[in-house]
Amino acid sequence: MSHSLVTMSYIVAAILFILSLSGLSNQETARKGNYYGMLGMAIAIIATTLSASVTVYGILIAALIVGGLIGARAALKVEMTQMPELVAIMHSLVGMAAVLVGYANFMDSTIAITGVEKTIHELEIYIGILIGAVTCSGSVIAFGKLSEKISGKPLLLPGRHWFNLGLLIAVIGLGCVFLKQTEVGDNAIIPLAIMTGIALIFGIHMVMAIGGADMPVVISMLNSYSGWAAAATGFMLSNDLLIVTGALVGSSGAILSYIMCRAMNRNFLSVIAGGFGTASGGEAAAIEGEVQPIDAEETAKLLLEAKNIMIIPGYGMAVAQAQHTVYEITKLLRDKGKKVRFGIHPVAGRMPGHMNVLLAEAKVPYDIVFEMDEINDDFVNVDVSIVIGANDIVNPSALNDPNSPIAGMPVLECWKGETTIVLKRSMASGYAGVGNPLFVLENTRMLFGDANVTMQAVLKALKG
Ligand code: TAP
Repeated sequence: MSHSLVTMSYIVAAILFILSLSGLSNQETARKGNYYGMLGMAIAIIATTLSASVTVYGILIAALIVGGLIGARAALKVEMTQMPELVAIMHSLVGMAAVLVGYANFMDSTIAITGVEKTIHELEIYIGILIGAVTCSGSVIAFGKLSEKISGKPLLLPGRHWFNLGLLIAVIGLGCVFLKQTEVGDNAIIPLAIMTGIALIFGIHMVMAIGGADMPVVISMLNSYSGWAAAATGFMLSNDLLIVTGALVGSSGAILSYIMCRAMNRNFLSVIAGGFGTASGGEAAAIEGEVQPIDAEETAKLLLEAKNIMIIPGYGMAVAQAQHTVYEITKLLRDKGKKVRFGIHPVAGRMPGHMNVLLAEAKVPYDIVFEMDEINDDFVNVDVSIVIGANDIVNPSALNDPNSPIAGMPVLECWKGETTIVLKRSMASGYAGVGNPLFVLENTRMLFGDANVTMQAVLKALKG
């Protein structure tokens, strides 16, 4: 394929990626956005494969087949609730690729450049490996935390900020040594290898220090890092499309991190510094009071008496795969003339848009699905709120206990309505590991059991 044809294909692919991102920003156009992305990626792979830079087809085809098979298997096997873990581990692969490309470039003796161009190329290698290594090890830890293989509690080493500052200074110092060494001798691999080790430690330490409730920000932040790692790889390989795509992922991930921080009422820098809620020093208030259980028949009765109903889904709905039963109930109640709405917290579930994906899958109409800010003031008019497998996102202590580890995070204020029914299996805490006083409030009833089983029982009772 001629150079100009490859460039043309890259421009088309880049436009498709931009269309994909804009499509993904809205539920109605998200499916189209996915198709644009898939088409753009297919064009990018074909154009790169047929470009003059590829000379050995055997290895490339073998890598495509092996990578494609592993990807297809992972995508087919993964449960919806494991998606965030899969995304995290994929980000670590992007980081690792940037590190490997960096080292391959460093060792490539066929690159014959001198002067400023050479220095810029070496800087690209150094920064590419740095971002790649931080992304790689940080994403592995994020994977561990999301899959609960590693505790969600923040690891707070004494003097951790000084430790991080020390690592940063060492990285800058080693960068200077690396550039000097490439001028005079062939020992530059030593500072490069030490910096890689430091970057890996920094990635581990950074994510280990972040508490459970801040993980949404970390996921989008690592997403952003993986984009910058890809862009750095693009610079090293002089591939324009990789630079553009990496920048798109990097900047959209950064915007998402900002949105997540705003949703959690957190400052981006303090999230990165880690230890959400540990600065207050005091003990979180103990939860005291009596739990009032309810059964499916009584729940159905309350729903039939109510006029204005709010459904609040959380991670437990994803675990129970209760969305289809929930929609059956919604349809039935709407047919009886009730006002039924869904209230979605920005960090409900385990990944951005998690609840919206589940509700779209169950074909819940978009016009009854509302974001937290749109409906939070309206709970005073709600007769019954049903909280389906949600916990942290409806925790009143976020608002009224300054010592709570999630103090300051905006939550869905369902307790302001007449009655709240919470569906969960036990009194266990949610992702942030915090007790929830909602469960013992006067106007709260607990419907214990797997959310799909209890929802089906409620549906049966409603029909009966
Ligand atoms: P959580 O606070 O994690 O609470 C989920 C609740 O669902 C649990 O208390 C659990 O209680 C219940 N549950 C689990 N399986 C169930 C089942 N089969 N049937 C019924 N209930 C079940 O979830 P949330 O309220 O959605 O809040 C999200 C949390 O995750 C926040 O802390 C957020 O910061 C964090 N997080 C979010 C993201 C993103 S981007 N959304 C990413 C990472 C972390 P039982 O065990 O008693 O059933």
